[in-house]
Amino acid sequence: MSTLKLTIMAKDLFDKIHKSKGPLGKWAEVAEGYFVFPKLEGPISNRMKFQGKEVITWSINDYLGLANHPEVRKVDAEAGVKYGSAYPMGARMMSGHTELHDQLQDELAEFVNKEAAYLLNFGYQGIVSSIDALVSKDDVIVYDVDAHACIIDGVRLHLGKRFTYKHNDLESIEKNLQRATKMAKVSGGGILLISEGVFGMRGEQGRLKEIVALKKKYNFRLFVDDAHGFGTLGKTGAGAGEEQGVQDQIDVYFATFAKSMASTGAFIAADKMIIDYLKYNMRSQVFAKSLQMQLVAGILKRLEMLKTRPELRSKLWDNVRALQSGLKKQNFDLGKTQSCVTPVFLKGDIHEAFVMVKELREKYFIFCSIVVYPVIPKGFILLRLIPTTSHNIDDVNETLSAFSKIRSKLNDGTYKKIAEKLKMI
Ligand SMILES: Cc1ncc(COP(=O)(O)O)c(C=O)c1O
Repeated sequence: MSTLKLTIMAKDLFDKIHKSKGPLGKWAEVAEGYFVFPKLEGPISNRMKFQGKEVITWSINDYLGLANHPEVRKVDAEAGVKYGSAYPMGARMMSGHTELHDQLQDELAEFVNKEAAYLLNFGYQGIVSSIDALVSKDDVIVYDVDAHACIIDGVRLHLGKRFTYKHNDLESIEKNLQRATKMAKVSGGGILLISEGVFGMRGEQGRLKEIVALKKKYNFRLFVDDAHGFGTLGKTGAGAGEEQGVQDQIDVYFATFAKSMASTGAFIAADKMIIDYLKYNMRSQVFAKSLQMQLVAGILKRLEMLKTRPELRSKLWDNVRALQSGLKKQNFDLGKTQSCVTPVFLKGDIHEAFVMVKELREKYFIFCSIVVYPVIPKGFILLRLIPTTSHNIDDVNETLSAFSKIRSKLNDGTYKKIAEKLKMI
């Protein structure tokens, strides 16, 4: 009886987890607490503490330096006292709606030049749900192969056809729009094209201007995830659409509060009719608690700062230019960045990368993110730096000097030898 029972039982769900921790998790033993899940301590600024030592911090998306701005901190604190962190309770549709939510939405819509906006609890879930709500099974999605994970997950929910195009490649975009058009004619659906305003890893802007021009030849709606463009690009800081002069041609505009707004949450903006539809159909918002009032009040303050203090953005760009031009002068490969995101591509393997980044942190006191295969191709190391308004010229100069030293050691094989000695290889 018991043998029979055993043979018909399914294998343990957790078996696969015992065998593999996944493509990133497999590095946990050597990387956790240092390269991944590091603990940066102290107030959010250009210099923070890592393992007890002060480091120049280039890994925080606090573009405009608002996270620790005294006026912002004051409003955050006052809102905390006034509302606590629970209010309002419930989803927006049921019991979690307030005047302040409406006010923030109206101000955001006006700022990004759209008829209406709607708040999202987190950017990630918001994008997943908005894609899910916008398409039905007859529709076709066309999107960039380098899209952020939340776009990929949104597309995963789609029951109809989808096509990826080569990253920012116009020929491939057009070829896939042709394919999508054929497919949509058969299914009777429409087409949603999704791009990022700024691609967060490499810093290139999405080719919004050229994509929009294709609207003359193909019938599609454009969705732009402008997480890194909002607050940093454009004449007023309204993002990549404003920068490229095509904001009015973006049908659905998204930005998160987790970067230049130094908070949590996000918003989506579009024609009123589309927002009215989305607010009743984005499942992650309909069935989840409203954005807390403390955050809403704090984001209203941040938006006011964004609108009234252009000097925050000009200082950001002074720092971006100083860092990027300094690195370029030393012949570092920054790829094709057109934004504040500053990628530095180096040649080397993952073991050399570990040794190099350790030295960068412990000898030169520089903390930046490190990206390796499979996120970027094998044989490359990407050091990703995010300049902010809080940085200054000393931060830039110290970093330039350290980078030239680590590159020489990477090129002459020093890091490889150390990695071999440590039996990492
Ligand atoms: C391009 C892009 N889209 C969406 C998100 C998700 O935003 P959130 O952090 O608000 O969930 C991020 C955040 O990391 C992002 O970089």
